[in-house]
Amino acid sequence: LSHAHRFVPATGRDSPPLLLLHGTGGDENDLLPLGAALAPGAALLSPRGGVLENGMPRFFRRLAEGVFDEDDVRLQANRLADFVEDAREAYGIAAPVAVGFSNGANIAAATLLLRPRALSGTVLLRAMSPLKAPPPARLDGTRVLMLSGAFDPIVPAADVGGLAATLKADGAVVDHQTLPAAHGLTQADVQIAKAWLSAL
Ligand code: MLT
Repeated sequence: LSHAHRFVPATGRDSPPLLLLHGTGGDENDLLPLGAALAPGAALLSPRGGVLENGMPRFFRRLAEGVFDEDDVRLQANRLADFVEDAREAYGIAAPVAVGFSNGANIAAATLLLRPRALSGTVLLRAMSPLKAPPPARLDGTRVLMLSGAFDPIVPAADVGGLAATLKADGAVVDHQTLPAAHGLTQADVQIAKAWLSAL
């Protein structure tokens, strides 16, 4: 498989597998506790971002904070979707719900826009638009939860609003909530995402 990763098999039958996508400087171990809290018993597939920025793993290159190398965004989103297909075959799992934080949310959004069939739903925690002019996607009712921080110094509110509008225009069912939070996750993120996942 193309990405270093951790895989935790399901212990229950109720929830779809989660594809856990970490933020800049994280790795394949970081989000396993979050995944277990969000969907107890679900299979967890957790790849490490294949790009390094000053030694910190990420899922695509950027030119500066918030300024993305969009050719690399496209390349890496396709690589991630290929990894998911290969992992599904290797581990015998259904299409996962992506749960991405920060840079991981941005690659999850790009994957949703470019390879929508790879995912069965998406939780975007502190996402921003990964592509300035995304190609039209057919999201046909795909469910997306977006949780933004009202005091997030990294993600401009207009940018995340634009992403929500794009996904809706493409046919996704988007639940976008803005929490009284900064870029870091809060207990409210966990509670809302857990409830959203259990209602899928
Ligand atoms: C990104 O580069 O994807 C965003 O700036 C989020 C981050 O990683 O800080």
